[in-house]
Amino acid sequence: MDSTLKVANLETKICNIEFPNPIWTAAGPTSANAEMLRQAAACGAGGLVTKTISVQPARVPIPNIYSPFSGSLLNAELWSEIHYRDFIDKELPQIKSLGLPVIASVGYSPDDLKILGQALEKSGLVDAIEFSIHYIGKDAENLKRTAIAIKDQVSVPVFAKLSPSISDLKSAIQAIDDIVDGYVAINSVGPALDFNVETLQPYLGSEDGRGWLSGRSILPIGLHFVASIYSLAQKPVIGVGGISSVLDVVKYLMAGASAVQICSLAILKGQQVYGELAQQLSEWMEEHGYPNIESLKGAFHRQQARKLYVLKEGAQLYPSIQIEQCNFCDRCVRSCLHHAIRFEEQKFLVDRSRCVSCGLCISLCPKSALTLEELS
Ligand SMILES: Cc1cc2nc3c(=O)[nH]c(=O)nc-3n(C[C@H](O)[C@H](O)[C@H](O)COP(=O)(O)O)c2cc1C
Ligand code: SF4
Ligand code: SF4
Repeated sequence: MDSTLKVANLETKICNIEFPNPIWTAAGPTSANAEMLRQAAACGAGGLVTKTISVQPARVPIPNIYSPFSGSLLNAELWSEIHYRDFIDKELPQIKSLGLPVIASVGYSPDDLKILGQALEKSGLVDAIEFSIHYIGKDAENLKRTAIAIKDQVSVPVFAKLSPSISDLKSAIQAIDDIVDGYVAINSVGPALDFNVETLQPYLGSEDGRGWLSGRSILPIGLHFVASIYSLAQKPVIGVGGISSVLDVVKYLMAGASAVQICSLAILKGQQVYGELAQQLSEWMEEHGYPNIESLKGAFHRQQARKLYVLKEGAQLYPSIQIEQCNFCDRCVRSCLHHAIRFEEQKFLVDRSRCVSCGLCISLCPKSALTLEELS
């Protein structure tokens, strides 16, 4: 580890627990045991979320992790293969000794949570508990029963980790907001499938070949959940899903997250990503005049009332170019379904009778040479 990593200005307090920075591990293979979490702590993680334990250890299929495309994963890893008694007696004391806040992840049924809650409370080794709703019914009544089952057993804060398959987020939040102390969103997305066209076999070894999608491709879903929970709930929310750069961390915090968790990126790039992101976040905040996490938290909601464009009567939006930035790659021309763009002798021409102002060309330009301009 680089001991000069600068993580100043990043301290954050959630439910009275003090975290040195808001970049935490997420439940997954990089938090499976004390050895993994020792690495995470050494690499600068600000909080230690552990792999989900349940009453019955998981029997995990193999293979269970596959990368379908760059930055994303499909997994069929289920929960921990370690018996919960072994986890609490052997792993947890070592994890606690690392000196960072420890959030134990538990699942799944109310009966499971009762047993796990009692055992964790007795151990006195966790600062908070996160319960996953991944494999249980997602209706409001079921969520409420599950939240009560764990909350009744423990004195530490309890966070509900929500799955993106919840269809009625408002009812879910209403059902549990008085019970839980916070939220974690989101778990991986699915079920999802990919397979080899030559062998016709799925890439994952689960019974039906299905798994769960995580990594870059799910970022916008996670941001939607965090922003919605921030608006609907009275409790802190921790953002997770698709973080691959410091700007993704900034987006989660601006959407309302008090901290973030990283899973796929740490699997794909190594555990040093926690400290690297913390360092980059500190620098980004300094450059952009955000003195602390609190000032960044929810910033997106403070701007939301403004519509992206309020057009004058008879005006329309058309792409406009900074020609000195253009490398003439032709991407905008090829991607315009309406054939509204062409270059003539390196001059950028927009056929206004064809352009529908969709905005796609602007987002695809690799040189940020295009903007939308209001023209009458
Ligand atoms: C291989 C793998 C195993 C995971 N295991 C768990 C788990 O045991 N419990 C849980 O709540 N989430 C689990 N997750 C989900 C992650 O904690 C996280 O919510 C999800 O992957 C989205 O974050 P990411 O895009 O940063 O990976 C797992 C994810 C992966 C990729
Ligand atoms: S996509 Fe951007 S860089 Fe490429 S030709 Fe169009 S304006 Fe130029
Ligand atoms: S805004 Fe849409 S329709 Fe107009 S030029 Fe760009 S891609 Fe084509």
